[in-house]
Amino acid sequence: MKKFIDLRSDTVTKPSEAMRKAMYDAEVGDDVYKEDPTANELERYAAELLGKEAALFVPSGVMGNQICLNVLTQPGDEVICEKDAHIFQYESGSPAALSGIQLSLIEGNKKGIFTAEQVEPLIRPTSAYYMARTKVIEIENTHNRAGGTINPIENIKSISELAKKYNLYMHLDGARIWNASVETGISPAEYSSYFDTVSCCLSKGLGAPIGSIIAGSKEFIKEAFRVRKAWGGGMRQVGIIAAAGLYALKNNIQRLKEDHQKAKQLAYNLSQIKNVNIDLELVETNIVIFSLKNMSVDNFLLKAKEHSLLLGTGKVGMLRAVTHMDVTMEDIEQASKIIERILNE
Ligand SMILES: Cc1ncc(COP(=O)(O)O)c(C=O)c1O
Repeated sequence: MKKFIDLRSDTVTKPSEAMRKAMYDAEVGDDVYKEDPTANELERYAAELLGKEAALFVPSGVMGNQICLNVLTQPGDEVICEKDAHIFQYESGSPAALSGIQLSLIEGNKKGIFTAEQVEPLIRPTSAYYMARTKVIEIENTHNRAGGTINPIENIKSISELAKKYNLYMHLDGARIWNASVETGISPAEYSSYFDTVSCCLSKGLGAPIGSIIAGSKEFIKEAFRVRKAWGGGMRQVGIIAAAGLYALKNNIQRLKEDHQKAKQLAYNLSQIKNVNIDLELVETNIVIFSLKNMSVDNFLLKAKEHSLLLGTGKVGMLRAVTHMDVTMEDIEQASKIIERILNE
């Protein structure tokens, strides 16, 4: 089979031998009865890592975010988020479809970061019965569509203080919180401490085949457990995949640093190519976004594929390369050469 250098996403990784062994060896039971020891251990360990009372294993990041929003709101409520947030751009309209809620969008800066000063005027007065009720402020960290950028902890803190002042919930889409954490040295628990609910992916840079974790108070998780079942997410002998998640949390967080180094190298190489536009300031973790001066995105993607290189897209006119554990530094050098060759052809 032809070997591709696959930089479309960090979701393309395949479980390592050691992870597969952990899956093979997993003790299992019926998780809908809460009798799966491996899923229970994953949830306990994840809750501890995130500094929350309890956690729940869910099939995907989208389901994680949407369960959190569903539990925190009533139909007709409103969630404030950034205009390029995953929950707005890439979750198939689920806030409206599944929970009957609307999103109020803020334009963040080029890193997708908005401030407490920007949020405050959007909070609707509780006396205004004819308006939607503001219930939640959502932050995505790292911010996918902005290019894997990290939200500064001081900024998160001031937004959470505002949330307290107005009695609002805070939700973290921490699909890649692990990347933010290894880069800044701020623990996942410290990030999570500013949020009522968090959703984090195991199947992105951490390399598990399936799954996300949501975490919060015991009361929240009790309700989330009910919603997960109602939405068809109750899984039975799920220890088989929970074992991969547990392995990922125990072994694959620190190594994310290597993915960040690969992204920085790729970004630097691209910045040296004449027909590439790239903002190096945006490359903080494992995502590199760039555009081309002399070729359409579609045409470029086709040519790259012919050269065995797979890339993704993001905002209109932008290309996206995501580094992960299944690409080496040699692959990055090779990918850079392929990109240069296509643009100079
Ligand atoms: C920031 C963010 N949130 C949520 C998700 C959804 O995760 P999943 O694909 O597991 O549903 C993604 C996936 O790319 C993401 O980047």
